[in-house]
Amino acid sequence: MGVLDGRVVLVTGAGSGIGQAYAARFAREGAQVAVADRDAERAGAVAKQIEAGSSGGALAVTADVTSAEENQRAVSETVAAFGHLDVFVGNAGVFDGFLPLPAMDTDAIEALFDRVFAVNVKGYVLGAKAAMPELLRSGGNMVFTASTAGFWANQGGLMYTMAKHAVVGLIRELAYELAPKIRVNGVAPGGTFTDLRNALPLGQEYGDDRSLFDMPGLDEFIKQSTPLRRLNTSDNHAAAAAFLASPAAQGLTGVIINSDGGYGVRGAASAAGGDQL
Ligand SMILES: NC(=O)c1ccc[n+]([C@@H]2O[C@H](COP(=O)([O-])OP(=O)(O)OC[C@H]3O[C@@H](n4cnc5c(N)ncnc54)[C@H](O)[C@@H]3O)[C@@H](O)[C@H]2O)c1
Repeated sequence: MGVLDGRVVLVTGAGSGIGQAYAARFAREGAQVAVADRDAERAGAVAKQIEAGSSGGALAVTADVTSAEENQRAVSETVAAFGHLDVFVGNAGVFDGFLPLPAMDTDAIEALFDRVFAVNVKGYVLGAKAAMPELLRSGGNMVFTASTAGFWANQGGLMYTMAKHAVVGLIRELAYELAPKIRVNGVAPGGTFTDLRNALPLGQEYGDDRSLFDMPGLDEFIKQSTPLRRLNTSDNHAAAAAFLASPAAQGLTGVIINSDGGYGVRGAASAAGGDQL
C-alpha cells in the first residue's frame, strides 16, 4: 500500500531533476502520474520509465507552463486519461545564473525579469487556476516547488531570488484563499545537483545555455555550506512532496518543508554549522 494509492497526480517540469524524482516517487506510492514538460522527449522518456517500473499508469504531456491554454490542456489530458485529478504539483522552473543587478545590462533587465517570472511564478499561477476545478471535485491538494532562494539571499541572482520569494507568497495566499477545500503546500529545496538551466543566455561569465551541471565545485560548495554537510538529492525533496500530497498531511496547509540540510539554522560566526560534537 502506497500513501498515494488510487490518486492521480500532475507534475509540471517532470521531464528532469526534481520533478522527475517527484513523478517517480508518486508512482511508487501508488499514484497514476501525468509527466508534463515543455520538452516532449524528456516527458515521454520519464513516463515510459515510470510505466515500466510501476503498476500504475503514466502519461506524458507536452505543455509550456507559461501558457494558460497549455496548462488547461495538461489538466484535461490528465483527466481524460485517468478520470480525475487529486494533486497538482507546480515545479517547472528556470534559473538566472546567479546574475546580480550590478552585472546586468540595463536593456537586458526586462527580458530576464519577464522570462524568469513567466516560468517560475506565472507558470504556477496558471497551473493552479487550471487545476482548481478538478481539485475541488476530488478534494485534492497542490504542492509547489519553492527554494531556499524563497527565504534567503544569494541562493540565486536577483531575478531568481525575487521569483522564489513570490512563490512563498503564492503558497501562503493560495492556502488561505482555497481553504478549507484545497490544501496548498510547498517544498523548498536547497541547492541540488540538477540540469536546472539559465532562463536566457547571460553571457560568458554567468552562462549562456548553462545548467547547474556546468558549474564545477557547486556540489561540494553546497555541501560545505549546510549544517548537515549534505547535498540533498531530488529524492529527498520527493519524499517531502509525497508526504504533503498524502492524506497523512490532511491537517497541513500553507506549510513549506525546507528540504535543504538546515540553511535556517546556519550560524552567524560559523556559516555552515556548529561542529561541536
Ligand atoms: N536544482 C536546484 O538547486 C533547485 C533548488 C531549489 C529549487 N529548485 C526548483 O526546482 C524546480 C525544478 O528544477 P530542477 O532543478 O529539477 O531543474 P531541471 O532543469 O532538471 O528541471 C526543470 C524542468 O522544467 C522544464 N521546464 C522549464 N521551463 C518550462 C516551461 N516553460 N514549461 C514546462 N516545462 C518547463 C524543463 O524542461 C525541465 O525538464 C524548479 O522550480 C527550480 O527552481 C531547484
